[in-house]
Amino acid sequence: MTLRDLTLKSIEALPRAVSWSDGKLSLLDQRRLPVETQQIRCDQIEDVFDAIKTLAVRGAPAIGIAAAYGLLVGLPDPDNGDVSALRQLIQDRANYLKSARPTAVNLAWAVDRMLAALLAGEDDTIILKQCLLAEAMLIHREDTQACNRIGDYGLPLVQKCPRVLTHCNAGSLAVSELGTALAPIYKAYEAGVPVHVYIDETRPLLQGARLTAFELHATGVDCTLITDNMAAHIMSRGLVDMVLVGTDRVAANGDVANKIGTLNLAVLCHYFGIPFYVACPVSTIDLATASGSEIRIEQRSGSEVTQLGGQQLAPTGIGVLNPAFDITPARLVSGIITECGVIRAPFESSLAGVVTEKYASASAPG
Ligand code: MRU
Repeated sequence: MTLRDLTLKSIEALPRAVSWSDGKLSLLDQRRLPVETQQIRCDQIEDVFDAIKTLAVRGAPAIGIAAAYGLLVGLPDPDNGDVSALRQLIQDRANYLKSARPTAVNLAWAVDRMLAALLAGEDDTIILKQCLLAEAMLIHREDTQACNRIGDYGLPLVQKCPRVLTHCNAGSLAVSELGTALAPIYKAYEAGVPVHVYIDETRPLLQGARLTAFELHATGVDCTLITDNMAAHIMSRGLVDMVLVGTDRVAANGDVANKIGTLNLAVLCHYFGIPFYVACPVSTIDLATASGSEIRIEQRSGSEVTQLGGQQLAPTGIGVLNPAFDITPARLVSGIITECGVIRAPFESSLAGVVTEKYASASAPG
């Protein structure tokens, strides 16, 4: 067995964030990682909503896939054949799931795709449910293909810049498999590139320390965990060739929403002359949002900042800010790696072009 076989095997062996099997939805409980790998069985739509809201499942593409399947869990049985009642129920569920988290466009995008299938589907409840399941599975499968291609398009960048700093988790755990920002890293690792990843721990919820470190360590990718405030120091020592992160929404002008702390890295990259790349599927590009200032930033509970693992860190009653995401202006972004290639400035035209091309080819006959 070659080293390449071994690494492929270990990447494939990573637990999946979202699984659908025998008509049941299971979500890996990422709140428990890296200590336990436990699945949540979602029997009711409320289970799916809670899992998204509390970050049991998280990462923009993964919450979209979970919501697509989530629309179908616990539908009333036996079926009374009332198709308009079923349509209304799914529509209500769609609104409910979309309200779980506001920033990642993939959640609304996936739910809207399911609603389009709902409207286009047959006037028969059984066939309609089958069409909806087929659409959810397609969303899931397309994400896997997109991640794979993001990996291929990003590989030459990692070959050129093998010492990569990443933030939060845009790996296998945030998508169907492989990841967005981590996909080129896994591809480089498989190809024998001497890649080294610096992982920002990513306060307050430590997605870097708990999730990215878990994935990279399990797969054998050479990596080093740092606290968020070490990034400038290691850049100043010449240890970082590139920053590569995921995103929750890219506005039409190329502004990028991602985990809080991403903007710090982009500013540092600008100062130190280090390339700053973002990786995402085309589904994360939101042409309906003109610029980052229009993106709604999720505000989460202050207890995520004042406590860690149930331990109080700060005085009770202290004022706290806890925005979950920030906006990196397009001018600080070197390129956006998608399944359709690496998009560069001027972003208004390049983003519009790639979205148009993607959806034109998706709707082309044959
Ligand atoms: O709050 P989270 O953990 O859902 O935030 C996730 C991120 O910010 C990721 O970088 C982003 O969703 C891209 S995942 C491929």
